[in-house]
Amino acid sequence: MQTIEVETRQRHYQVTIGRGALDEIGKIAAQATSGRTAMIVSDDIVGPIYIPRINKILREAGFKVFSYTHVSGEAHKNINMLQRLYNIFGQLELTRTDLIVALGGGVIGDVAGFAAATYLRGVPYIQVPTSLLAQVDASVGGKTAIDMPFGKNMVGAFYQPWAVVCDPDVLSTLPAPRIAEGMAEVIKYGCIRDASILKNAANQKFEAEAMIARCVQIKADIVAADELDKGERMLLNFGHTLGHAIEKATNYSMYTHGAAVACGMVAALRIGIALGITPAATESILKNLLTLWQLPTAAAVSKDEVLHTVRQDKKWLTGKLNFVLLEDFGRAVLYPLQLDEMTELVEATWLEAGVNG
Ligand code: GLY
Repeated sequence: MQTIEVETRQRHYQVTIGRGALDEIGKIAAQATSGRTAMIVSDDIVGPIYIPRINKILREAGFKVFSYTHVSGEAHKNINMLQRLYNIFGQLELTRTDLIVALGGGVIGDVAGFAAATYLRGVPYIQVPTSLLAQVDASVGGKTAIDMPFGKNMVGAFYQPWAVVCDPDVLSTLPAPRIAEGMAEVIKYGCIRDASILKNAANQKFEAEAMIARCVQIKADIVAADELDKGERMLLNFGHTLGHAIEKATNYSMYTHGAAVACGMVAALRIGIALGITPAATESILKNLLTLWQLPTAAAVSKDEVLHTVRQDKKWLTGKLNFVLLEDFGRAVLYPLQLDEMTELVEATWLEAGVNG
């Protein structure tokens, strides 16, 4: 079992990583909060598997425990689910000293986290991520949000958890596409900060605990330096600007987030190569690695469709977007692009699956 410290202005907390970490939840929750009522929020896939065990552990640690499971999936990461959570919290008369336990993947973490951030202007919560993607990325750093009809994560808050508990054992029940989705984020960490992660991924040396810990340490360092996403934290968006555009252009129904990010990373490399910033040799290395993990390297989205959606990205600031490029594997930089430059670069480099990709 290992712990990684996350130091932010809002809060200092620990990420506990290790096989069997779920069994530590009672102790971690009791240390995290003075209240003795815990509300587990989960979904209808993860909840039935883990709620009985966590309920028991929390009860043994002295908590009165309630739980709620919502229908799973990104389509439910919306204001209706949030409203449902507020109503339940209100009916149970949860107070500011009680505890919300977000048990699930990125959707549960984001919505339960946002409910925790806003109900009574803030209730303690802990993240218990059950997908690889959530363990290595989404559960750490305090980004919480819901999707709106006009875009993903459009309403949210930076609200750091009181603790994060990552148990790699929970990954054993995940289907291969869900592991692949998480591997896209793992590969992202290798690309932006630590090329040795790419070597391990290429050998399919899937030592889950060490790999999760390395990614979480990178994220903890970045979030400590830039909690509010105004500088260095934007590096975590490598592959995400065009990845989000792919997801949106295909109505969030054709590609998982990880698959879209995989295509977005290849597209970002190709833009970097066109600008003379990224070495050309990186493209085939990244493509081979993504293919090894059954991730796509190009999406069935035309350059016009991608440009149409990228123009709506919430990260455009006064006509400029900080695009993430690689100087090499392990070395990412922010590169401000104007809309017309972005348009030209996408026009020149875009790969469309089945056409030129
Ligand atoms: N998932 C990117 C971030 O937390 O900033």
